[in-house]
Amino acid sequence: MCGIVGYIGDKNAVKAVIHGLHKLEYRGYDSVGIGVIEKNKVKIYKDKGRVKTLDNIVPKNLNTSLAIGHTRWATHGKPSKLNAHPQSDCKNEIAIVHNGIIENFGELKQILKKEGHNFKSETDSEVLAHLIEKFYGETKDLAKAVKITLDKINGTYGIVVISSKEPDKMIVARSSSPIIIGVGKGENFVASDATAVIKYTKKIIYIDDGEMAIVTKDNIDIFNKDNIRIDKKIESLNWSAKEVEKNGYPTFMLKEIYEQPKSFTNTLAGHIDLENGTSHLGGMQNLFPDNEIHNIKRIVIIGCGTSWHAGLMGEYYFENMTGLPTEVEYASEFRYRNPAIDSETFVIGISQSGETADTLAALREAKGKGAKVFGIVNVVGSTISREVDEGLYIHVGPEIGVASTKAFLSQVLALFLVSLYIGRKKRLSIEDGIKFGKQLQKIPSIIDEVLQSTQAQIKKIADKYCKYTNFLYLGRGFNFPVALEGALKLKEISYVHAEGYPAGEMKHGPIALIDKDFPTFFIAPNDNFFQKSISNIQEIKARNGKLILLTDDNAKVDEGLVDDIIRIPTIDEEFYPFIETIPVQLFAYYIAIKKNRDVDKPRNLAKSVTVE
Ligand code: AGP
Repeated sequence: MCGIVGYIGDKNAVKAVIHGLHKLEYRGYDSVGIGVIEKNKVKIYKDKGRVKTLDNIVPKNLNTSLAIGHTRWATHGKPSKLNAHPQSDCKNEIAIVHNGIIENFGELKQILKKEGHNFKSETDSEVLAHLIEKFYGETKDLAKAVKITLDKINGTYGIVVISSKEPDKMIVARSSSPIIIGVGKGENFVASDATAVIKYTKKIIYIDDGEMAIVTKDNIDIFNKDNIRIDKKIESLNWSAKEVEKNGYPTFMLKEIYEQPKSFTNTLAGHIDLENGTSHLGGMQNLFPDNEIHNIKRIVIIGCGTSWHAGLMGEYYFENMTGLPTEVEYASEFRYRNPAIDSETFVIGISQSGETADTLAALREAKGKGAKVFGIVNVVGSTISREVDEGLYIHVGPEIGVASTKAFLSQVLALFLVSLYIGRKKRLSIEDGIKFGKQLQKIPSIIDEVLQSTQAQIKKIADKYCKYTNFLYLGRGFNFPVALEGALKLKEISYVHAEGYPAGEMKHGPIALIDKDFPTFFIAPNDNFFQKSISNIQEIKARNGKLILLTDDNAKVDEGLVDDIIRIPTIDEEFYPFIETIPVQLFAYYIAIKKNRDVDKPRNLAKSVTVE
């Protein structure tokens, strides 16, 4: 939530920061601003709106060597010019950009007001600027003033601070909100994540909680929470700048849907061991050497949103292949309970961004209780990837569309691989393991086939159904998490109400909603539950419900029973989620496009939810 960027160096700082803000816009996009030091004065240009708003408010010839920028997802104070960042002190000598929440801002604001500070915004962040102003008055040292300020606040932050009194530096700090430093030659960058700087440098330093850095054009000094200077590794990023462009697609979401054959292949690469009918997972080997895997008595999977849906799929895989009791937990619930976790619990955290605050906190909680914690993460170097004991990167490349697509598919695949690994050590035969491995290798070309064969039809179906304001998504077994994911996709990008349910639950309540204006998207390939699903379809039709059926080529369906039918290839039932997800994503996408929605940046949402 909120994207922050900073640049110091020989290039045009304003241009570099605006470029970075465009790349970080997926983190929040209700207001935007940049701050520079020009002729020894802090100047701030900001307003409500998206990054392109800056084109109208930043002077064309503005060219400085130091700039900071912010794209906001409002927490405290509605989107407005005054609440946009940078926030500044009374004398307009200090400017800050902040991602996070200052929990004790109310009391600090009262004290500062009594001391004569003049507040301009409703934000929590503004107290940072005034506190730094106050302590700068006492120390005449920007870094010291920032350090004292951070010691006074409770909450989360990634911040960048500049001052006209020390115009050759940025002060950077983090606590629970991500910050990276991009290392250049004669220039350095700061950002919420590496997508903002990848055009300029692939050398990245990941700042950890409690650390603070003084960044000048030629130097980066990093200090730990005890204010001791530390050396940190410079990591090399293997993403290319092209991956953060649309490359001819109208939206990132469509590009990412179409990338799935490739992203699935990337996740799978190097992990299939056909000889032993298992998966090769270095992280699992390290975590459970020898026979330690037999100490696992229970599996708990933790995530939020789409990652939680992937986790639900994992539950089916783990129970089928390993026989271990498996639970899937919403991170935001798990962390505030007193969960029964011990050293015999294997905890798997799933997060595309690797920065989701609730997931991170839940995994910390589990680790604190002695569990072995494994991460399934996309963003390399993200906080979760660094804090878990071991993990598996899904390597799908940057996912920019706010609605998760390619990450979901690969999260499910990663869970399948972990489940295969444990399963083979428990009760799965080598023959079954080999069969699964071979089938997984065929999935990318089947995904491609589904993309080609269903796209035009789904577009037409979406045109037909875009007038409806409610949808029910149903599925049984493996198809149930796909139903949940379909409903979430539709909600978040088209703002149409949709509910996902296990089909067998329909008669326990949702059936009351069914009438001619409440269509159902039913996911029912010809698997073990198919006949039961057909009975549910009959029940829907008996109540005049409209019905779209997603099924496979071999399923025998009385086509008079359904209004629209989408067919996908017939495969083994464990693998249907990998290909059913495609039509479900495309359906949500085309409904949203038909409704003229901004699918990459749906209202009120942000890609990376770093507030609790
Ligand atoms: C997915 O379409 C959503 N935007 C959202 O539910 C997301 O999956 C959730 O916020 C978790 O994010 P993470 O995977 O980065 O932790």
